[in-house]
Amino acid sequence: MSILYHEGAKTFHLANGEISYLMKILPNGGLGQLYFGQAVRDRESFDHLLEMKHRPMTSYVFEGNKFFSLEHCKQEYPAYGTTDFRHPAVELLQPNGSRVTDFVYHSHTVAAGKPALAGLPATYCESGDEAETLTVCLKDSLLGASLFLSYTIFAGQSVIARSARLENGGSEALHLTNAMSLCLDLPDSDYELVHFSGAWSRERHQRVRRLEQGIQSVESTRGHSSHSHNPFIMLRRPGTGEDSGEAIGFSLVYSGNFLAQVEVDAWDTARVTMGINPFGFDWKLSPGESFQTPEAVMAYSCRGMGEMSRAFHRLYRTRLARGQWRDRPRPILINNWEATYFNFTEDKLVAIAQAAQKDGVELFVLDDGWFGARSNDFAGLGDWVASPERLPNGIASLAERIDALGMKFGLWFEPEMVNKDSGLYRAHPDWMLQTPGRRASHGRNQFVLDFSRPEVVEHIYDRIAAVLSEAKVSYIKWDMNRSMTEAYSAALPPDRQGELFHRYILGVYSLYGRLNAAFPHVLFESCASGGGRFDPGMLYYAPQGWVSDNSDAIERLKIQYGTSFCYPISSIGAHVSAVPNHQVNRVTPLSTRANVAAFGTFGYELDLNQLTEEEREQVRAQIAFMKEYREVIQFGDFYRLRSPFEGNFTAWMVVSPDRRTALVGWYKTLNEVNGPYRRVKLRGLDPELCYTVDGGAGHYGDELMRVGLLTTDSAAGERQPDEAASCDYDSRIFVLKA
Ligand code: DGJ
Repeated sequence: MSILYHEGAKTFHLANGEISYLMKILPNGGLGQLYFGQAVRDRESFDHLLEMKHRPMTSYVFEGNKFFSLEHCKQEYPAYGTTDFRHPAVELLQPNGSRVTDFVYHSHTVAAGKPALAGLPATYCESGDEAETLTVCLKDSLLGASLFLSYTIFAGQSVIARSARLENGGSEALHLTNAMSLCLDLPDSDYELVHFSGAWSRERHQRVRRLEQGIQSVESTRGHSSHSHNPFIMLRRPGTGEDSGEAIGFSLVYSGNFLAQVEVDAWDTARVTMGINPFGFDWKLSPGESFQTPEAVMAYSCRGMGEMSRAFHRLYRTRLARGQWRDRPRPILINNWEATYFNFTEDKLVAIAQAAQKDGVELFVLDDGWFGARSNDFAGLGDWVASPERLPNGIASLAERIDALGMKFGLWFEPEMVNKDSGLYRAHPDWMLQTPGRRASHGRNQFVLDFSRPEVVEHIYDRIAAVLSEAKVSYIKWDMNRSMTEAYSAALPPDRQGELFHRYILGVYSLYGRLNAAFPHVLFESCASGGGRFDPGMLYYAPQGWVSDNSDAIERLKIQYGTSFCYPISSIGAHVSAVPNHQVNRVTPLSTRANVAAFGTFGYELDLNQLTEEEREQVRAQIAFMKEYREVIQFGDFYRLRSPFEGNFTAWMVVSPDRRTALVGWYKTLNEVNGPYRRVKLRGLDPELCYTVDGGAGHYGDELMRVGLLTTDSAAGERQPDEAASCDYDSRIFVLKA
């Protein structure tokens, strides 16, 4: 891994044998982009890659050089208004009303390792030889402002992490109205844009669009990254598959309003920008102040989408997620939400836990409804003390009873919210976001606390810390159940209201960070009505997240498949729930519910006392299976085999790091009569090793990958007496052992 600078050609080359990233100081002093992709050998000059052709009539040129126009240049952090007409990476509103800026190269540093980003989640390294960071300083001399662009390249990984910092070294306040985390100008637009969009309970469905001249984007304006779009996009060449073709993934380590945009210009170049959504953003930079953007990560693969995903998985699982739980197999949990909703007593909870303990569950999670006056969703949020009616003996006592069963105890919080019917609201009515003189719209009868205010964060920290100090709590589910409206902070002056959304998220991060530090043994699971804030920012504080409120196994195939494009399996919270399913009323086999949830951080969300003895036997077997294989699943390499977005069958697999164990999940949506013969080509195995399939016959890895695993089931013909009946929503997990 190296970061080279060639003084003669003023060229930077970030290289690690897998990828190369090339930049050059342009004739105007700005930073230009030359190449990002598969590794190329180094040379003194790559100037020939700087294509500067005279464009008749529409060329707006730089100081008489008719070949140099920013509109025709690939740049690293472009501004608008100085011959580039595309959307910029940075915009600064100045005291005289101008937004024109001119940042030119000043200096650069190369350092071993990777510095942390103050107050923000980011990837990290554990030793200096894991990564190297280039920081290029550009200055706008008229404004006295400096721009620091950081690029980290990791040893052996096809990823680059980027961020920018703006510093106002001038004498007057500036307003930063746009500061992207990354800009990448690609030399052509022969790509498909793949994004993962949807809605509540339908998160991260894969969508594909062809790039064409104009702007295509996904974004959030809701105050959280949202169910609608995810801060991750991919560009792939047409025809790219799971293990062939070129794909570039772009991921923003951020949980608030974001924008991910691709602009294709008249010459078919494509500009990718990603960062805090400029919509409504206005950050006042007083003299001496600086602004740090969130981090963005780009992963390049010339071996298909699967390799790109595994690059993100590796980095995010090992160098974004942190803490004691990062590398530990996750506990098998039972959550009472779908079992009881608000309707529980202490004894009922203990009865659910007892049954679960008998079957091998390790962690009991008490969800919403345990605190204040919370007997429904109209009251109680903000009052983090046990409800005197439901839990008269308090949380510590319940935690003791769970502990006595030999189980860990987990608790739900929704730290960022308040109900008007709460002690917190009555004491501090000005602590919620609301615009003076305007209606305050509620969502699920609740309002958003102003987390841009340190005293609000402090108060909530004290409340949560009090519970964690008094009761044996090993796990927290941190929920967040509404988007922000009428967003306005009573604590910010008018010219800083445009900072609110970002300050809010910084407040969330600071609370998470403080709790992580003070209670390092606690496993956090993030949640926002399911997957409404499932993003890399959250992963830094909570190594797993509740991926969707939709717990139906068949719906989950798409949600978990879509999520896997960027996020590791160890981050995907997945539970077996009751049938008929509470979201879609579908009845699926218990085995399929478990076979889908198995590819995540596994748990149950139902009352096992309601199952038959035969079903309980199945549950015990599922839990034993998960205990045996969860490390392979959660920490192995994940391969997508067949997409639920393309047909009746879904398949995926995980392979252990030593490639001696593999699990293949195979799922059928609707049954078919007399169907075709089927086989699925596996991936990631060692071609030289012979694998038994479910303890039966051995097959070499090359055969399984090139010929395939036969998955034809009894639905293909007349069922034989020794064959299990196939049905709608059927599934299997094949266990392969070398
Ligand atoms: C939304 C979450 O996604 C659910 O799992 C549950 O915790 C409810 N909130 C509780 O209100």
